[in-house]
Amino acid sequence: MAQIEAASPHVMTTYGRLPIALSHGRGSRVWDVNGKAYLDALGGIAVNTLGHAHPKLVPALQDQVAKLIHTSNYYHIPLQEQLAKRLVELSGMTNAFFCNSGLEANEAALKLARKWGHDKGIDRPEIVVFEKAFHGRSIATLSATGNPKVQKGFEPLVEGFVRVPLNDVAALEKATEGNRNIVAVFFEAIQGEGGVNPARVDYMRQLRELCDRRDWLLMIDEVQCGMGRTGKWFAHQWAGIQPDVMPLAKGLGSGVPIGAIVAGPRAANVLQVGNHGTTFGGNPLAMRAGVETLRIMEEEGLLENAARVGAHLKAALERELGGVAGVREIRGQGLMIGVELAKPCGALTQRAADAGLLISVTADSVVRLVPPLNFSQAEADETVAILAPLVKAFLAE
Ligand SMILES: Cc1ncc(COP(=O)(O)O)c(C=O)c1O
Repeated sequence: MAQIEAASPHVMTTYGRLPIALSHGRGSRVWDVNGKAYLDALGGIAVNTLGHAHPKLVPALQDQVAKLIHTSNYYHIPLQEQLAKRLVELSGMTNAFFCNSGLEANEAALKLARKWGHDKGIDRPEIVVFEKAFHGRSIATLSATGNPKVQKGFEPLVEGFVRVPLNDVAALEKATEGNRNIVAVFFEAIQGEGGVNPARVDYMRQLRELCDRRDWLLMIDEVQCGMGRTGKWFAHQWAGIQPDVMPLAKGLGSGVPIGAIVAGPRAANVLQVGNHGTTFGGNPLAMRAGVETLRIMEEEGLLENAARVGAHLKAALERELGGVAGVREIRGQGLMIGVELAKPCGALTQRAADAGLLISVTADSVVRLVPPLNFSQAEADETVAILAPLVKAFLAE
């Protein structure tokens, strides 16, 4: 049996890791180095859209690796145009910029919003952000994040953010009253790290209307809730609105690192030559991963699957856990589901793994399920069959 060290002596200890090392996967099943199998209801934290080792994605990526992995943005990269065209078609927006991660996408969005402000004569632009939001761990994105734990030790924070509670338009209007420096509202359609907290559909519409009226940009972070996870391509589409800027990452490359912002007509021309860039952004391998992920998602009807299996999973969780004392709420949409308990439940990740299920706990007390979008109904049933007894036993302690 391979031993897994409790701590790796040469890797910085920036993560609290379970003592598990995974070696390979297939679909929503992964195996560790000792041969133990797990059902993957975490999907690399909403990243492995197509599951593991997808039989169509693997040969496509092999083909790309053998052709061209990286060039540079000194040259045109036709795969960027292909992926941008698909994202524009799916979102109804107009242009995309590519980078490598969620925080990079959000950095690009924040820079864009500031530049948009400067272009119209606002020298000290401010951006409305939200309590419990998570936008990443760079200095600017952790400043936009609404979680003191993420910020502690990294002060001084970046200035220029006004923070308000989610789903309360009156609070937003009050906090921004008379402030001529506001340039954008920046929020997640469903907060992920903050505990799977959806922005209400009517609230998203109110934000769109407010941004139009006040000439602000509406910027929706779809890094976690986007890419088909809720049953629509992007979670804000449930509200029938369109943002001006939409950061994407996680599921877009089905595991290959990638990030993007998609911009609508008001925002698409703000960043000009020399304003922004990144060496690896839009490299041919990541672009191919994005193009193939979208193609396979369409071919295999994964939006419909996410909606159908997600509804089945949520209903099964409600049936098993809905009335249990200590279960506060079961919420989310499609294959992005949170089960909030009345006490911190980080211990459940190890217990679930021992029982052969990978999950995460976020915001201390919310069990989060964000499996691959080709998760089956049988896998959803298996998830609940493992998870529900663990939660009940944990709550009874
Ligand atoms: C909504 C949201 N935005 C941004 C990020 C940051 O993405 P990354 O970890 O790729 O930098 C995350 C990561 O969890 C996220 O959930």
